[in-house]
Amino acid sequence: MVEPESFIEDAIDEIRQQVGDEKAVIALSGGVDSSVAAALAYEAIGDRLIPVYVDTGLMRKGETEGIRETFAFMNSLRIIEAQDRFLAALAGVTDPEEKRNVIGKQFIDEFEREATEAGADYLVQGTIYPDRIESEGNIKSHHNVGGLPEVVDFEGIVEPVRDLYKDEVREVARALDLEEVVSERMPFPGPGLAVRIVGEVTREKVDVAREACHVVEEETAEHDPWQAFGAVLGKATGVKGDNRVHGWVVAVRSVESRDGMTARAQELPWETLQRIQSRITGENDTVARVVYDVTHKPPATIEYE
Ligand code: XMP
Repeated sequence: MVEPESFIEDAIDEIRQQVGDEKAVIALSGGVDSSVAAALAYEAIGDRLIPVYVDTGLMRKGETEGIRETFAFMNSLRIIEAQDRFLAALAGVTDPEEKRNVIGKQFIDEFEREATEAGADYLVQGTIYPDRIESEGNIKSHHNVGGLPEVVDFEGIVEPVRDLYKDEVREVARALDLEEVVSERMPFPGPGLAVRIVGEVTREKVDVAREACHVVEEETAEHDPWQAFGAVLGKATGVKGDNRVHGWVVAVRSVESRDGMTARAQELPWETLQRIQSRITGENDTVARVVYDVTHKPPATIEYE
């Protein structure tokens, strides 16, 4: 990539040329890709950009509050409370690809409503280079690539970071002075906590996964993983007090990677793993067991579904 500063100048010019005097929408996810795309577009067209954040209920702990603060400078920001609608749509769904499809469809419904209401002609997306490669290879259905353009009749799609790798997007984020929490943030999948839950997504499992992810992110931070999280696998027997209980099994995953296409399981110190275990089981009575995933990618994927 060229210097971040000249990349930013060129990207802003290009967005202005593409969008002209029209309006554009962008779906903010809290991740670095859409945040950078939104910040570039906002620089380019100001309040004619309508950033839409859909709270799916499958987001990280504190995500919605973080979005509100980070993007407080964008007057046109819209936050959609869609948690209950997503959970209802996911009830009974156990197949990983079907989960992605249900989430993608619900997301499009929510977003389409806002885009239509806002009268936006252009769609800005935070698609990065590896997203395009994986989508072309059809490795999995990314809900942040494709889908939307077929449903909403946009005049054009604007993808300002389409040729960048993740580490380059982070460089641009730093140059844009996007807060450290955004620029240094580890990647988070579009379907959110749903791909960190094996089987049906329920409110209880989402709560366990969200808290586990928070603990793992905090405790692994000093080891600087590419991605680290907790996932809910199923149930197993444990002991709480004098009673045998059937509680959740939480898998802890912490990986090193450049772009997510391949990854290595991190060799975390035993003390770190034990601290994670004791916090997750201590903070949540329904967790019976914590295991560490030592599998690289390949053969495993990074996420669980
Ligand atoms: P996997 O699990 O396929 O993940 O090894 C590779 C990288 O992609 C992220 N990921 C997704 N991102 N929509 C996304 O936007 C998805 O459906 C999705 N599935 C996985 C994952 O977090 C990792 O960074």
